[in-house]
Amino acid sequence: MTSVLVTGGAGYIGSHACKALAETGFVPTTFDSLERGWRDQVRFGPLIQGDLLSPSELDTAFRASRPEAVLHFAAYAYVGESTQDPLRYYRNNVFGLVNLLDAMRRHRVGKIVFSSSCATYGLQRNETISEKTAQRPINPYGASKLMCERIITDAAASAPDLRFAILRYFNAAGADASGTLAERHDPETHLIPLAIDAALGRAPPLRIFGTDYRTADGTCERDYIHVTDLADAHVKALGHIGRAGQLIVNLGSGRPSSVRQVIDEVARVTGRPVPFEAAPRRAGDPPRLVADISLARRTLGFDPALSTLGRIVDTAYASRIGRTAAT
Ligand code: UFG
Repeated sequence: MTSVLVTGGAGYIGSHACKALAETGFVPTTFDSLERGWRDQVRFGPLIQGDLLSPSELDTAFRASRPEAVLHFAAYAYVGESTQDPLRYYRNNVFGLVNLLDAMRRHRVGKIVFSSSCATYGLQRNETISEKTAQRPINPYGASKLMCERIITDAAASAPDLRFAILRYFNAAGADASGTLAERHDPETHLIPLAIDAALGRAPPLRIFGTDYRTADGTCERDYIHVTDLADAHVKALGHIGRAGQLIVNLGSGRPSSVRQVIDEVARVTGRPVPFEAAPRRAGDPPRLVADISLARRTLGFDPALSTLGRIVDTAYASRIGRTAAT
């Protein structure tokens, strides 16, 4: 069976990807510092605790797992935090990737699937964002991911054996329908879990960050992709680069949802109103990020079948209250 090293495999998206890998016959070894990941989310292969900033810990992981490919999720991923402490983001996200690519070279591993982000696009006028859209990040998180993209493409230009996929995620949301894996962040800053917790009375009223954007209802619009669709796309991307060598692709649902639409859906699914209040805009938030996913459909046969707002919220809610999803 083929071994894959999954950095950040104890995190939200990484743990779902480990499940998708295991279901298709790979053996995922998680490499995670557990600073922001959870030991109990590593269920589909071994865990090696270590830090990307430590070349010797990386060597240990490569020697132990002897992977054929790397899926690289481990990164800091809070937009707001990145505007407050940019150096921390550049150190972890950018230096971490450089160390990882060096380790791949030392251990002769020639395939990497990298978690990039729609945050690399920044402010856009376009209706939907294609891979050709100019990338102009407006926060250090997005800038760190764009730097990583450049580092990977430069590294591949000088090392023809390096095959890579750069996957630009839009907003990952929802949870595995079996209820075994959850959306978890600490601290939680993401809209859907916070709206659910507000509805359940476990959190203060949701603060809507900006109600005066030039969007249909004045709140920010995002493209929410079900984390299981996203995880499956990684397995497809791994197969694709085995054949084609390189891929840079958006992964989203292709549809916008505003903050108010998410609130309405959470109220419908939970059967409870979501207490909320209007709050000032959050630094670093683009008004609208919606993917053109035609390239993913063409190259990967990508079909975000689970990525309806109803299913996303239903599975997110189920995982938050510890039951199996209804849909
Ligand atoms: N929002 C609120 N109130 C909240 C939380 C969020 O109004 O309490 C709004 C935000 O302003 C934004 C939308 O809900 O308009 C979604 O916010 P999230 O924090 O859930 O996610 P982001 O859009 O900030 O996602 C970004 C990047 C992703 C990245 C992710 C990582 O776009 O690429 O952060 O955390 F992966």
